[in-house]
Amino acid sequence: MTRDLQEIQGPDRLARLARDRIGLLLVPAAQGRGYATEAGAAALDFARDVLKLRTLVTYLAPDNEPSKRVAEKLGGELDGVVELLSHGRHCVYRYRLTLRPDGS
Ligand SMILES: CC(C)(COP(=O)(O)OP(=O)(O)OC[C@H]1O[C@@H](n2cnc3c(N)ncnc32)[C@H](O)[C@@H]1OP(=O)(O)O)[C@@H](O)C(=O)NCCC(=O)NCCS
Repeated sequence: MTRDLQEIQGPDRLARLARDRIGLLLVPAAQGRGYATEAGAAALDFARDVLKLRTLVTYLAPDNEPSKRVAEKLGGELDGVVELLSHGRHCVYRYRLTLRPDGS
């Protein structure tokens, strides 16, 4: 998880909302076994329970179908498209970290 804004060029609203973000990267031999979904779910729990965040985003290349699928499985929703200065056009998927039933 990272918290910098240096690369983002886009509508001011997206730039401000994009401060906290998550990225996943597995070596090829480990892909396709559900690890990213499992790790992503743990990271979102950490963001909600320890960092006390209520929203988090991930940036995905429009043609990165496995990543988009993982984002959707984790509850992410497409929130817009931005131009990253050194990486080109990316989709922004947003996670809303809702409180647990006990309010924690
Ligand atoms: C993206 C990445 C993290 C996914 O890791 P993973 O452990 O393989 O992901 P999972 O196994 O948890 O889930 C992959 C899902 O994508 C689906 N998928 C794989 N290839 C697909 C394709 N071409 N089109 C659509 N869905 C695809 C799988 O079927 C699976 O969904 P399912 O559980 O509904 O069947 C991994 O491929 C990776 O490290 N890629 C390189 C780095 C990268 O692109 N990171 C994202 C930038 S933040």
